Amino acid sequence: MKVLLTGANGQLGRCFQDRVPAGWQVMATDSDTLDITDASAVDRVAAAFQPGLVVNAAAYTAVDKAESDAARAALINAGGPANLARAAKRAHAGFIHISTDYVFDGTSKTPYVETDATHPLGVYGATKLDGEIAVMREYPQSIIIRTAWVFSEYGNNFVKTMLRLGRERAALSIVDDQRGCPTYAGDIAQAIIDMTIAGADGGIYHFCGDREVSWKEFTDEIMTTAARLDLLDALPIVKGIGTDQYPTAAQRPGHSTLSCAKIARYGIRPSDWAAALNSCMAKIA
Ligand SMILES: NC(=O)c1ccc[n+]([C@@H]2O[C@H](COP(=O)([O-])OP(=O)(O)OC[C@H]3O[C@@H](n4cnc5c(N)ncnc54)[C@H](OP(=O)(O)O)[C@@H]3O)[C@@H](O)[C@H]2O)c1
Repeated sequence: MKVLLTGANGQLGRCFQDRVPAGWQVMATDSDTLDITDASAVDRVAAAFQPGLVVNAAAYTAVDKAESDAARAALINAGGPANLARAAKRAHAGFIHISTDYVFDGTSKTPYVETDATHPLGVYGATKLDGEIAVMREYPQSIIIRTAWVFSEYGNNFVKTMLRLGRERAALSIVDDQRGCPTYAGDIAQAIIDMTIAGADGGIYHFCGDREVSWKEFTDEIMTTAARLDLLDALPIVKGIGTDQYPTAAQRPGHSTLSCAKIARYGIRPSDWAAALNSCMAKIA
């Protein structure tokens, strides 16, 4: 299997490279070596490499910054995936693209299924939804995996931020009325590999962590895991606050849990995020 990977330096890109099965050949590209917004560069690279699979781990992921940088977010999150879908189709390759729970408004009381109506609340979610639509228009056989609350030992993420704040401060105030499922990037990478090996059908799939928490509850588990691994001198006090007490540029969904029932048909289980948190924090240590 020849895989053209974009966004190779991001959380998912790095985790994917760590898990490449024996015999697979990966051309790992980052924003310097392949800008996905450059359609002719994408075509040129795909035509030369002739991948059997294109995996798009590249995205504009700065949720709040996107509110004042909408054109750039759209170029990367909608234009880029469209370029890659076209190139994958031309190369007769599979295409796996990653999207987000932020395509939903978070008003559902039950976990979202793939066919639920979308309604993004901010620019990031809207551009990711436009990306999904563009991918399915260009190449309907593509696979789109919506995921949520991604963390890993790589890059910047909530776990690393909380660990830093936990070391610096005696008390933290964390939002307690937004709920979702943390997801380890390594488990998303493994799901991509498993779906490829299984020859999964094109379409949208949800994949996220196996247990729903609020950001405050997630922080509690980050702190106890860090203390157990001797990464903290003392446990900080973690106080729950409302979204209204922590204003951000982008509005976020209140309850964006995703149902992973559809992807389970390929034997793929939701991310065991507590176990992954432990091993991931041991690596950070
Ligand atoms: N992080 C989350 O909590 C979360 C939640 C739900 C869904 N997702 C989705 O999951 C996927 C992976 O996210 P992640 O957390 O691994 O993202 P990440 O760590 O922010 O990595 C994204 C990568 O995309 C690259 N990139 C940006 N613009 C590019 C361009 N024009 N051409 C090529 N590469 C470009 C970045 O490279 P540079 O740094 O060099 O620009 C970066 O390495 C994304 O589709 C994201 O939308 C993430």
